[in-house]
Amino acid sequence: MNQMQPIHHPLRTTLFAILLLAAAGSPATAEVTVPMPGPWGDYDETLDDPAEVDATEAFQRFRQQSMQGTSAVYRSLEQILRYNAPFAERLPKLADELASRAEEIETWFAQETPARDGEDGALPGAWQDPEFSEYKAAFRKATAELQRKVDAADDLEDEEFQLRATEVLNGVRHHCLACHDNYRRR
Ligand code: HEC
Repeated sequence: MNQMQPIHHPLRTTLFAILLLAAAGSPATAEVTVPMPGPWGDYDETLDDPAEVDATEAFQRFRQQSMQGTSAVYRSLEQILRYNAPFAERLPKLADELASRAEEIETWFAQETPARDGEDGALPGAWQDPEFSEYKAAFRKATAELQRKVDAADDLEDEEFQLRATEVLNGVRHHCLACHDNYRRR
């Protein structure tokens, strides 16, 4: 047993040093575990430590969540119009929701909060390029057009209406793709 120790110790030290180096190399945020009390038992969740997330990062994360919410609304409309999910009666509410998110998009970029070097997110150019405003305005216009199209429908289930509305939806999608192509890194 005693003879093993001189072999074991340097090995453990080396492994520990490698682990430390690996941890220092990754920018992982420290985490905390928060209790989530309620009637179904003792749950908790491990989250990024709020003390380690600064205002810039929170702003950026809010924008990303808002984009994901926008995506969920867009994809829900798409399920109905392109794939016939049986929720046609929800079209007006969803189209309103998409248009009101497009109205808000300006506020999501109100602070200059680009992605850090090499990370995914908004390109710094978004805040320098005067054309960026035009991409936001054109997106708003396209969602308003979809909203009008849906509001004007006599029968939301009608196949012809749905075909025409899908074309307007494609017109909305164009603006997601074009803006991402120019101002987003992923
Ligand atoms: C005017 C520009 C613009 C338009 C229009 C736009 N986006 Fe984005 N979107 C961005 C930028 C910039 C980012 C990167 C934001 C960041 O990471 O801070 C982004 C990020 C995203 C993300 C990733 C969010 C995350 O969690 O990292 C999704 C999903 C997304 N957009 C969906 C959409 C959809 C769907 C549409 C259209 C219905 C849309 N976006 C329209 C600029 C735009």
